[in-house]
Amino acid sequence: MDIKALVSQLTLEEKAGLCSGGDFWHTKAVERLGIPASMVSDGPHGLRKQDDKADHLGVNESIKAVCFPAASATAASFDKAMLTRMGEAVGDSCQHEKLSVVLGPAVNIKRSPLCGRNFEYFSEDPYLAGKLSAAFIHGVQSRNVGTSIKHFAANSQEHRRMSSSAEVDERTLREIYLPAFETAVKEEQPWTVMCSYNRINGVYASENPWLLTEVLRNEWGFEGYVMSDWGAVSDRVAGVAAGLDLEMPSSGGVNDRKIVEAVRAGRLDEKLVDQAVERILNIVFRYTENAKPDTPWDMEAQHMLAAEIAADCMVLLKNEDALLPLSKTDEIAFIGEFAEKPRYQGGGSSHINSFKVTGALEASKGLKITYAQGYSAAADNATDEQIAEAVAAAKAAKAAVVFAGLPDVYESEGYDRVHMRLPDCQNRLIEAVAAANPNTVVVLHNGSPVEMPWIGKVKAVLEAYLGGQAVGLAEVRVLFGDVNPSGHLPETFPLRLADNPSYLFYGGEGNVAEYREGIFVGYRYYDKKEAEVLFPFGHGLSYTSFAFSDLRLSASQITDRDTLTATVRVKNTGKCAGKAVVQLYVGDVESSVFRPVRELKGFEKVALEPGEEKEVSFTLDKRSFAYWNTRIHDWHVESGAFAIEIGHSSRDISLRAEVNVQSTVELPKHYDKDSIFMDILADPHAAAVLKPLLDSIRAAFAPPADESEKSSAASEAITEEMNLAMLQYMPLRGMLSFGGDANSAQMLEQILTELNKV
Ligand code: BGC
Repeated sequence: MDIKALVSQLTLEEKAGLCSGGDFWHTKAVERLGIPASMVSDGPHGLRKQDDKADHLGVNESIKAVCFPAASATAASFDKAMLTRMGEAVGDSCQHEKLSVVLGPAVNIKRSPLCGRNFEYFSEDPYLAGKLSAAFIHGVQSRNVGTSIKHFAANSQEHRRMSSSAEVDERTLREIYLPAFETAVKEEQPWTVMCSYNRINGVYASENPWLLTEVLRNEWGFEGYVMSDWGAVSDRVAGVAAGLDLEMPSSGGVNDRKIVEAVRAGRLDEKLVDQAVERILNIVFRYTENAKPDTPWDMEAQHMLAAEIAADCMVLLKNEDALLPLSKTDEIAFIGEFAEKPRYQGGGSSHINSFKVTGALEASKGLKITYAQGYSAAADNATDEQIAEAVAAAKAAKAAVVFAGLPDVYESEGYDRVHMRLPDCQNRLIEAVAAANPNTVVVLHNGSPVEMPWIGKVKAVLEAYLGGQAVGLAEVRVLFGDVNPSGHLPETFPLRLADNPSYLFYGGEGNVAEYREGIFVGYRYYDKKEAEVLFPFGHGLSYTSFAFSDLRLSASQITDRDTLTATVRVKNTGKCAGKAVVQLYVGDVESSVFRPVRELKGFEKVALEPGEEKEVSFTLDKRSFAYWNTRIHDWHVESGAFAIEIGHSSRDISLRAEVNVQSTVELPKHYDKDSIFMDILADPHAAAVLKPLLDSIRAAFAPPADESEKSSAASEAITEEMNLAMLQYMPLRGMLSFGGDANSAQMLEQILTELNKV
């Protein structure tokens, strides 16, 4: 299809019309030219396709579909291949349902445990979020269906989500809030990108030329179309100029007319409208030309896949005395309503009308299970009778498993949480059960960390996150040892909310949300602070044990243009098969800028039989070592030593090696009268220029040679070393203030000319 030729046949009104939705979920058709409408749908962990009444908050019914685990859970898998399989399944369902684009994945960074939408997002770490979302996109798009990576960008809170401005400094945006999008765009070219509701440094994402054109297209090479989040458009004409191609759903024609008027009045270049239409039609035709509506959608098979994925995601947080796995011959008490009716997905636009749901109680048929409801999630209470019944069941059983978690209303799209606690009634229940049976296990259903006041009283904790409609099957498989848990935390669980680095200013004041903690988000903060946490980033236990050994680097010295290969051996040293997650972190040993202690730069999930050993390799490049330098507005590696660490979590590092990386980029230098000696002396060329001057200053500051000249206690107390230390911070203009003469000003000028030559 020659899209350019097609666009040239459209009237201005038709083109402006194509820049917004025809209805809630469709792009517009232009029948006279054979342009079809195409449908998009939420997403991301299954289809929320609405045939009848449409809405963007998951209020009205959608078709029956399969609900896979939410991104909070799939991130814990650390398993790229698994995310690709899930993407393929979602892609097949889209083909079956004639959907051109699934609205996801959602890759916003978990800045605070409070964000109501954390359940839909991957991680506090941009590398992990980027690689896993890329794997998912790869899967969906392998089926010739598009994705819409969202919400671009810095949409890490729900509070005032349509008006708030995320005030984020340049380096933090580049190192924390943009890279997940960047990785996905550069590696997988998502067909579309969805801009976020919020403003970024005062400018709405939907009309932000820096974000949508400079960064997304010019720097990263994005080729698809940008659509707005539903209702994210404020100034449509500014949006077209900034690179927002498609407004969704629509403004009932108001904004289309504004586009036409702006073009006619010469305020908007028609070429920009043509460009937007061309981008949209490229994708519309890419889908229609590859549509395969006869693709089967085997929901039962996908239910089993959802169970397999959910089991791959579960994180065993604690397992004292190897209480888990439980024995299938023992009598076990299942306690808590979530055993029967699990919370397995979050509220809002990602809410799926699951064709069936399997809870742990149903999945454990044939085992010796007793059940007590324990609490009611909807009423958010536990009666004395419910607790007494639970305690009796716990007492009579070999072990008690409490199925706890956050009820729907506690976390959802549209608003943030106000605390990090489980419902009080559930905490009470857990305490009572743990007092009744020393072998108590807690299984958690939540999209974001919770405080665990009872952690010292229970032997085992299994984090299921929001595990999708087959979560119960996965739970039973893991609890009874059919599947060895292999999930790892994609986020830190702080001891309490107040420990989180954004705690003092999360949510912002009015419409201004300042991201004051900067790059120190998640473990980047906790590790630097050496703060105690409940469970660190990357943590996850197994029923077996793994040992890492023999970390080798392909070189001990490289430049920032080279790649480095790190190879490590991983061995299953326990008695059952399992999957290890090898995590590779990089840390700048000495740096002139503030940097985290370590940052994740590689991970691999490896299946191993007992006694089996495998070798894993990672390739590191400039980005693995670089920070964003705001002077050159680019990535920069500061020459020197870097630590390469291999660990089981960010707090459990087993191997360490060092590599020296030399920068090939000379940072621009400019000296003026306010430049201080310390900075000039750190630059060998400049130091040489300054040497004669420095020698004379040193002489002037040196303590008197003749002891008798010492006149005061003050001069006795100051050593030459101290003088020199103080001199470091003196600006060049100090030569005028201290001991300058008539020639000093001219000398200063000469020195500056020389300094700026080198
Ligand atoms: C959400 C998006 C979603 C869209 C369409 C918005 O409220 O923020 O994630 O894709 O609605 O339902």
